[in-house]
Amino acid sequence: MIKLSGFNKIKTSVFISGKGSNLKNLFKFSLKRKSPIEIVLVVSNNSKAKGLVFAKKKNVKNKVFNFINKKDAENEILKELEKEKVDLICLAGFMRVLSKTFIQKFKGKIINIHPSLLPKYKGLNTHLRAIKNKDKYSGCTVHFVNSKIDSGKIILQKKIRIKKKESPRSLSRRVLKEEHILYPKAIKKIFSNF
Ligand code: GRF
Repeated sequence: MIKLSGFNKIKTSVFISGKGSNLKNLFKFSLKRKSPIEIVLVVSNNSKAKGLVFAKKKNVKNKVFNFINKKDAENEILKELEKEKVDLICLAGFMRVLSKTFIQKFKGKIINIHPSLLPKYKGLNTHLRAIKNKDKYSGCTVHFVNSKIDSGKIILQKKIRIKKKESPRSLSRRVLKEEHILYPKAIKKIFSNF
């Protein structure tokens, strides 16, 4: 648990690559008086990410970084994070793997949401894999990020039942709804004395 003393909200950066529904949801959450976070920077590796349109609309500082050279991109991001005094990074559909060096610099301050019941189905295509394996349950997990993919300490999980004849698409839609509830809950949990 991260202990806080003052009343200032935690300056948070959300990393995205695509649609940004979790970003939208975290933004809405951040505006609540009791939310421990404020979103000061949106980072994307993809200039076409729809989430960027949302960030612009809400006047949240947003920047695109080209990951062709990962080291350069990460160094640029670190500069930006320092400039904005960021203390928490929320990965929300960010499709690049951050380096060990980067993660080390933000140790214990990077969290991620993943659409499966970790440790099951790390990586991609989680819904398809769960359905193919005839699993009874799927869900989502918020966890701390360490240098191994989708392997850091779990903060919270939500389990839902997989329906008969469920498609990966319908399961993804149902899990995403749960993600939008779980991510703010997990943030509240790690800053529970805020
Ligand atoms: C979510 O399912 C999240 O769990 C995964 O990527 C998806 C991102 O969706 N890591 P969105 O861009 O937040 O809508």
